Amino acid sequence: MANWRLLLAQGKTHLVNLDAEKQELPGLGSFRSTVLRAAPLGEEFDLVGTPARLFEPTLPDLEGNLSRGPQVILPRDLAWITWALALEPGDSVVEAGGGSGGLTLALARVIAPDGRVASFEPRPAHRQVLERNLQRSPHAALVEVIPESLTPETEPRECHAVALDLPQPWELVGWAAASLAPGGRLVAYLPTTPQVAQLLRALEGWGELRILENLQRDWEPKPQSLRPQHRMLGHTGFIVSARHFG
Ligand SMILES: C[S@@+](CC[C@H](N)C(=O)[O-])C[C@H]1O[C@@H](n2cnc3c(N)ncnc32)[C@H](O)[C@@H]1O
Repeated sequence: MANWRLLLAQGKTHLVNLDAEKQELPGLGSFRSTVLRAAPLGEEFDLVGTPARLFEPTLPDLEGNLSRGPQVILPRDLAWITWALALEPGDSVVEAGGGSGGLTLALARVIAPDGRVASFEPRPAHRQVLERNLQRSPHAALVEVIPESLTPETEPRECHAVALDLPQPWELVGWAAASLAPGGRLVAYLPTTPQVAQLLRALEGWGELRILENLQRDWEPKPQSLRPQHRMLGHTGFIVSARHFG
């Protein structure tokens, strides 16, 4: 795992890799990483003339600074997906597809310190982004990236939960049933209602079916004009969850 820290300077935060020889940061220019490596966590130090502090990055810091690749799942949906999967530290979860790793990082955080995430991702370009983003996570060692498609023919893998963020999750419902521990949960993330309907047909016989869409409205954090923001992100995806009792 690379040596990542969160740098606070001039009221802004930057995710920095201390293993890199040099840093090039907007507003702060270019400087050698040695000045960062010597700085004690949380305490103010002089960053080439600017007061600064370093912190351990948290999951929101990592999610907010992912390398760009396939569309990541946003925090409002990540939170619900990890809740709906009912994951505990030590659990094993299978994910397909890994994409940019937005969900992978969140899953790894929840099953740490000794659980496992198996992430299927067949596309080399997406895997490159996934691996790059994973390197920033303190839980990267808990994640196995599998360079294949998850298909109905894939050998079942014993697991507590299955998370599917791919276009045709209904094809994998039988595989999930063969892989999940009794009472295990499946979640699929889908942008359109025809996909949801098709998945529901495949989930016949499963328990605790739920379909959910998160709408989030951010507010301006200004005491003198406290109000909702004018712009709002609308639809992202439907989250379908179900439970397999075997
Ligand atoms: C929208 S992206 C996933 C984004 C990811 N959840 C994130 O938060 O970064 C969908 C991914 O599914 C992958 N994919 C499509 N079919 C797949 C399959 N059968 N098995 C595994 N991955 C698949 C694609 O290559 C793509 O990277």
